[in-house]
Amino acid sequence: MMIVLFYFSGTGNTWWVSEELVNLLEKKEIAASAISIESIESREAQAMIEKADIVGFGYPIYGSDLPQPMKEFIMSLEAVNNKKCFVFCTQVSWSGDGARIGAEFLRPKGFDIRWGEEFLMPNNICVSALPFFSFTSDRKKIEDVLAKCSGQIERFAGHIVSGKPFRKGFSFLSFLLGCVQRVPFRIVYKSLQNDIKVNSELCTFCGFCAKVCPAGNLIFDGETFSTRGNCVLCMRCYNFCPVSAIKYMNRLHNADKGEPYRGPLETFSPDMLCGKR
Ligand SMILES: Cc1cc2nc3c(=O)[nH]c(=O)nc-3n(C[C@H](O)[C@H](O)[C@H](O)COP(=O)(O)O)c2cc1C
Repeated sequence: MMIVLFYFSGTGNTWWVSEELVNLLEKKEIAASAISIESIESREAQAMIEKADIVGFGYPIYGSDLPQPMKEFIMSLEAVNNKKCFVFCTQVSWSGDGARIGAEFLRPKGFDIRWGEEFLMPNNICVSALPFFSFTSDRKKIEDVLAKCSGQIERFAGHIVSGKPFRKGFSFLSFLLGCVQRVPFRIVYKSLQNDIKVNSELCTFCGFCAKVCPAGNLIFDGETFSTRGNCVLCMRCYNFCPVSAIKYMNRLHNADKGEPYRGPLETFSPDMLCGKR
């Protein structure tokens, strides 16, 4: 059996879950691979989908919705004929129907959604303008969350291997709960896309933010920064700027709250995910 998993990850959580899932499947003697959608052209992805027996899709949930890059990736795929599929999201607490919303985009492409899961991972929203979102960069606390999530991933891998369908959050009630967040989120989404700015007094002009932006929103010409207004809210530039010089909603990161969340492992860096550019 061959499984291919395509994922989008802003700050590393979905990357980590994808790698763990693939490792577990390989231990069960299944040929599996996890691929960042930022590192592959849709033509190549299509060829991999054709060869695979099961195709997976993973993404972080944003306001009970799919991140824009994942929506665009799915839209770019050609239709398949009832290809077996699993879909999952990562989230800090709650999405209602975080995996089902991915299925909504995948079904019209001909995917047969057999498995769906919502994995609980650390919060990646660290922006000072939204102080009610608590986050941590404490390694011990992050490890505790990862340990719990490992069990969840293992159970999910078991469902896939057994062949028995398992779909978390696919009920009508979950859909209604998802709508509670998704409907207002989609209304304000456009206005949130233009809120990233660079503080030129703090900035060391390393260009890392522009290099790792998955939307090409930040442009650095060697001297100045500009933005295109198409931020996808992944938090990469804000969380990974080495000197926290990125402003969101006109506010810099509040250093009193500790370092922003920089991924599940100390070895993680977002440039590991964006090989295409
Ligand atoms: C714009 C935005 C919206 C989010 N919305 C939700 C949400 O609705 N529910 C939730 O539980 N987590 C939400 N989160 C938290 C992320 O989904 C979570 O931290 C995820 O694991 C990040 O994955 P990544 O590191 O792969 O990008 C949101 C994060 C961002 C940046």
